[in-house]
Amino acid sequence: MNVRKAVPAGTATLAYRDKSYDLPVLAGTEGPNAIDIRKLYGEADVFTYDPGFTSTASCESDITFIDGERGILLYRGYSIDDLAQHSCFLEVCYLLLYGNLPDKRQMAVFHRSITHHTMVHEQLASFFHGFRRDAHPMAIMCGVVGALSAFYHDSTDINDPKQREIASHRLIAKIPTIAAMAYKYSMGQPFVYPLNNLGYTENFLRMTFAVPAEEYKVNPVLAKAMDTIFILHADHEQNASTSTVRLAGSSGANPFACIAAGIACLWGPAHGGANEAALKMLEEIGTVDRIPEYIKRAKDPNDNFRLMGFGHRVYKNYDPRAKAMQAQAHAVFDELGIHDEPLLKVALELERIALQDEYFISKKLYPNIDFYSGITLRALGFPTSMFTALFALARTVGWIAQWQEMIEDPDQKIGRPRQLYTGQKRRAYVPMEDR
Ligand code: CMC
Repeated sequence: MNVRKAVPAGTATLAYRDKSYDLPVLAGTEGPNAIDIRKLYGEADVFTYDPGFTSTASCESDITFIDGERGILLYRGYSIDDLAQHSCFLEVCYLLLYGNLPDKRQMAVFHRSITHHTMVHEQLASFFHGFRRDAHPMAIMCGVVGALSAFYHDSTDINDPKQREIASHRLIAKIPTIAAMAYKYSMGQPFVYPLNNLGYTENFLRMTFAVPAEEYKVNPVLAKAMDTIFILHADHEQNASTSTVRLAGSSGANPFACIAAGIACLWGPAHGGANEAALKMLEEIGTVDRIPEYIKRAKDPNDNFRLMGFGHRVYKNYDPRAKAMQAQAHAVFDELGIHDEPLLKVALELERIALQDEYFISKKLYPNIDFYSGITLRALGFPTSMFTALFALARTVGWIAQWQEMIEDPDQKIGRPRQLYTGQKRRAYVPMEDR
């Protein structure tokens, strides 16, 4: 793998109390430089304060680059538009894991390995029956993925590179099977086993939507849309769930436990749950004539309503994933002959109005990936409760690539943030009868 390391790029000087401190500045290959404060506390007895990590890089990484101002997203240097147009999800998995696009032989070997790990241990199926039928698929995913460490003991030694690779392949291969099983379980339908002559995404669609009573044929247009959705969600540098995976992994926890932690974090509405919220909002708006009322509410400082699917912590421009997602929404609706989908009309008109509105322009609020993903996934046949599970499926490769990178990083330490303590000063214990 082509590992580049940050290089020195001068110093920054911090004046604190009556002393000054020279702090090294590091440059990566793209993006802003970073002030290296690792020795600051030891030398100056002061912490930096940055809840939400808005100005803090937690690691060096070669995997994904985002330029939020220019709306650029690169996986290993390749733009998300190129990958969405020309690649497939499994090739993107290889790229994220190994750093370069595979040649034919490498792809064939990888494809074979993933295909031959798609089945889950038969005893895992009985594990599902412990869940209530109405359990949320993400609740099932957290539990079952965490439980993989109880089934695959031969790939939990994180110090063995071969075991790490096997665990990575197992996770990428089994997560569609587990997501499909979570769906089937909630529907009260029998599990459908993977079929080795199908591609990764086709297999997932079949395991999800096929029933034993009839033949299931994969629609190539819908499979392409699903595959593109997976590509668009595959990695997004140090977001909340990825940072969770790294933090969990920094203690030496096994990869299955770390990915389960990532799934738990992704579940929240501010992260993976936003596409469900965007769909709900479009349904609530319902018709184009009601859009101005909602735009007005979004702009009202006394109303906490927000346009879901708009705005992003990092993108201060059009989210590059949203463009590809919009194209897939059109492809899916055309293929299914849904020419008059009112929610698509509402979405397009809402986007048009917001992009011309001074409030959204001045705050740099643009559509994000979630704006179009909810309506597309619904058209593909998924219930809203599966949306975040699909995100988890796609993001598993990003999580595991980031986890591997962290384990191999010689600077890796257990993640241990400090705090600005604001509680009581030391005080004497008071016996109960004196309180
Ligand atoms: N609608 C209306 N106003 C907004 C919106 C919105 N969607 N998003 C931000 N603003 C306003 C906000 O009120 C604030 O205004 P002011 O400066 O007057 O107080 C300003 O823009 C900055 O907002 P912020 O909350 O400080 O920005 P942030 O970077 O912390 O939040 C965000 C980013 C994504 C949480 C936020 O834009 C939001 O809540 N969007 C809607 C939810 C959503 O679509 N989430 C999906 C994110 S993409 C998924 C992923 O990559 O994981």
